[in-house]
Amino acid sequence: MEIRVDLDDPAAITDADISGMLDAVEGFPAQVREALSIGRGSMELPAPEGVRMVAVLGMGGSGMSGDVVAALSGEACLGIPVVTVKGYDVPAYIDQECLVFAVSYSGNTEETLEGVRQVLERGSKVVAVTSGGTLSDIAAENGMPVFAVPGGFQPRASLAYLFVPILCALERVGLARDVMTRLEAAADMLDERNVEYGRASDLDSNPTKRLAKDLVGYVPVVYGSEGPVSVAALRWKAQFNENAKVAAFHNSFPELNHNETVGWRNPPDACSRFHLIVLRDREEHPRIEKRIGITVDLLEESVGHITQVYARGSNSVEKLLDLIYFGDFTSVYLALALGEDPTPVERIQRLKDRLAE
Ligand code: PA5
Repeated sequence: MEIRVDLDDPAAITDADISGMLDAVEGFPAQVREALSIGRGSMELPAPEGVRMVAVLGMGGSGMSGDVVAALSGEACLGIPVVTVKGYDVPAYIDQECLVFAVSYSGNTEETLEGVRQVLERGSKVVAVTSGGTLSDIAAENGMPVFAVPGGFQPRASLAYLFVPILCALERVGLARDVMTRLEAAADMLDERNVEYGRASDLDSNPTKRLAKDLVGYVPVVYGSEGPVSVAALRWKAQFNENAKVAAFHNSFPELNHNETVGWRNPPDACSRFHLIVLRDREEHPRIEKRIGITVDLLEESVGHITQVYARGSNSVEKLLDLIYFGDFTSVYLALALGEDPTPVERIQRLKDRLAE
């Protein structure tokens, strides 16, 4: 397949990125800092007494905020589970003893709005994260606290606005620890990655541009190990779908060793069109490390390419954001290399319009 934009030419990249998705990606460290100040705001939050579970309601780019919070909760949250709900029906166990974050960037996502109505009826404590829409109206009618985030971005380009305030809120009410200082340090780390991965960094020294180039003509499949790395793999898949407009898939170790590993045989010509990306953590469980080594060995002859990307950073927050950032840049460069505008998601809009008819 032809590469439509010279990824070594920053001016060509800027010209091709007509709606400015790369600007948004390069602005991620600043967004983390701004989101911290939104999250630290003086707004009164629900009291933590009696809260035995946290739930995050949200779909797509907004739902990803819940995945990130849940992935970090093992380390950051103080003994309470965090679950994400992506759909219309909120499980019955999310009741008045739950602190619920309703996240919708537009504020108009029907599944999330339906979920909010259910948890309000059950008496859950509910906090909204949104840039406006119906969710803002429901919050005002019900006296719900709202983290109001800036509008005008794509939801997936607002990830920090959507997950950082939740972590701040949990820390502020005493249900999490050390997250705000870790996020500040992570923003500094992301500044460094920005230089390394940004448009001005040439192909030879920019691993995200190199990977994007290698992905042209292939279907990405992104594997991660259980926990935060698996969430990074899900984000990569979604960013490949929405930015690059390519079919992409993800799965997690060790579960994939119990089924998907077998399937990489037929049809052989189709298998060879996949580029397997394995996201790694140098501190992963020793048995996961061994499994990944064996799996890569077993699959080498079946798939077209295998690339391994290691998280960098000194804690889970940094490692997760580091991997997410690598994937965000890669997906935008892949879009440009394929001649796609990374920003619009016309099919999502068309689908929502038809549902509204
Ligand atoms: O990336 C997208 O546009 C979608 O995944 C949206 O995030 C999803 O449809 C939900 O919309 P919202 O984030 O506005 O609630």
